[in-house]
Order: sequence, then C-alpha cells, then structure tokens
Amino acid sequence: MFEPYYSQYINCAEFSGAEVVTHPMWADDNQEWHFDFKHLEESLDATSKIIIITNPHNPTGRMWTQEELQRFSDIMDKFPQCTVLNDEVYFHLPFDGRKHLCFSNMSEKNWAKTLNVHSAGKMFNATGWKIGWTIGPKELVHQAFFVHEAACFNCNVPGQVAMGRVLERAFTQEYEGYPNYFAWTAAQFQAGRDEAVKLIETTTNIKFKASKIESGYFMPLDISGNEDKIPAKYFVLNGNYEEDPDTKVKSMKFGNEFDTVPLDFAVARYLAVEKGLSCMPITNFAPFESKHAKHNYIRLAICRPAAQFTDPVMQEKFKKM
Ligand SMILES: Cc1ncc(COP(=O)(O)O)c(C=O)c1O
Repeated sequence: MFEPYYSQYINCAEFSGAEVVTHPMWADDNQEWHFDFKHLEESLDATSKIIIITNPHNPTGRMWTQEELQRFSDIMDKFPQCTVLNDEVYFHLPFDGRKHLCFSNMSEKNWAKTLNVHSAGKMFNATGWKIGWTIGPKELVHQAFFVHEAACFNCNVPGQVAMGRVLERAFTQEYEGYPNYFAWTAAQFQAGRDEAVKLIETTTNIKFKASKIESGYFMPLDISGNEDKIPAKYFVLNGNYEEDPDTKVKSMKFGNEFDTVPLDFAVARYLAVEKGLSCMPITNFAPFESKHAKHNYIRLAICRPAAQFTDPVMQEKFKKM
C-alpha cells in the first residue's frame, strides 16, 4: 500500500500475518501529493499477493489521474498473481468538477483482479455504522463474504434497510438545488475545504501550509517550522500503557534517543490541550520502522459545513493560535 495510508489497513494486514510493504507518497513545494510508482514496481515480486489502493486517497485527498491509473495498471500486468483491493469509500466526493476514475473499470483484466470497497457510512456521513459493500468478480466477493461473516457476522439491520431504501434515490433525485445528494455533499465539503484554507492562514503563532486536496473528508497541513513554538512537555513520551504479549498487532513506538514523540504528535497534543482543536498526526499513517514516514503533517477534518469555519468563535480561536 501507499504511505501515508488509512491507518486501519496496517492492523488488518498484520493481524492476517501478512508482511507489509509500503510505497511512499510525497508532497512537492506546491503541497501537491504524488505516488512513488518506481518504488512500488521495484518492491513487487512473484510472492506479492495483494496491493491496497485508496482512491480518492485518505489522508492526502488525492484523486488518481488517468495517467497514474494507467501506470499502475501496467505495473500490475507484470505481477498477474497480485489482487488489487481498491478502497473507493470517497468516490462520491470529487471536488472542483473532477471526475472519479476507477481502476477496475479500465479493462476486463483489471476488473478480474480487483475487489472494490464502498462504505455507506462514508457516503451518508454516518461513519462507524460499518455498513458497506464490495463490488468485483464472484471469486473475490465470495472471499470478502467469508471474512465479513467471521469478523462481524451481521451489520445493524435498521441501517441496512435504510441504505437499501435511500441509495438509488440519493443518486437520482435532485437535492437542495444539486443534481443529487452526493453532488450536494461534495459541494459542502469543497466549500468547507476552501474556508478551512482561509482560516488556517489567520493564525498568529503556529504556521500551517495546506495540502491541495481534491476529494474526501480530510486535509493534511504541513507544520514544519513550528518546532520552537510548541512547549517541550508536548514532546515527552508518555508510555503509560502495558504491552499485550499475545497480540500480533504492533503498538506504536517512537524510540529515539531522546524519548520524545515526533513533531506532529507534539503539535496535535498542544492544539488539543491548549487550543481546543483536535487533529490527527500523520506519523500514525505509516509503519513505525518506515524510512519514508513524514512527521511534519497533521490531518484536519474538512467534512463539515463551511459555516463552521467562518463562525466568529472559530475565527477567534484560530487568530489566537
Ligand atoms: C480510506 C478509508 N477506507 C475505509 C474507511 C472506513 O469507513 P467506515 O468504517 O465508516 O465504513 C475509512 C474511514 O475513515 C477510510 O478513510
């Protein structure tokens, strides 16, 4: 999978006993994120079993372009034993008039190797309900069915009934002046992104640089250069929980010679405790031992009405930050 990744992937992969290899993404000076396909190609071999892609991507908000999908497709052709897990839970949220492109729709060959994952929770802003579905060839969907049966057995039935009733309508009926409910939601979050970008420029002390996001719920903020502005206590490592000797899932460790946490954890702690702003450190989205991990990003949720970012209380809060 590409790194930074949606953090659940690593737990599931480690739990299944898989050996995880990650491929870096990087942001250029313009705060636009890119995939390192060369690293991907060089890491794959005849033993590689599955690659997880996220499109649109969490946490970077990147949507895959036709050229990127083609490059990826060409690489996958060289490793025909490899299945693609295509997580598209944000496919309904393209910003700025973009069009979502799906890897498995490119060819019969791609379709045959891909399991597409969708989340009703994400589509209806009810994340945590754990209602979703997979689309793909019978053999792969069948495998997903066995995992689901063993892992959760059943989803909440009222939620499933509600989704069954609303899904078609949400695509086909006009909503609040938009062609459908999803177009309306995308417009709300796009406006939320735009106001969030303006808001973070108003801070007086901490400096943020917003990534250029194209979709989704989140926006990474580059926090480099703020090292001196965060009180030293937020860098101190508090290892106040016990290891579980039986688990296969690795806990997060930051062992460096100073016993400190990386900048993004320190900033996230500081903002939560002193400024009432809760966000996610991007170190969390990479394996501990990663050579590519970025410690200079936090992830802000923009999945809210723009009015929340223009609210005077919020504006005051940022001005004092
Ligand atoms: C990329 C990605 N996939 C899957 C999920 C899971 O979504 P849910 O559990 O709400 O269905 C999330 C949630 O944040 C996500 O970001």
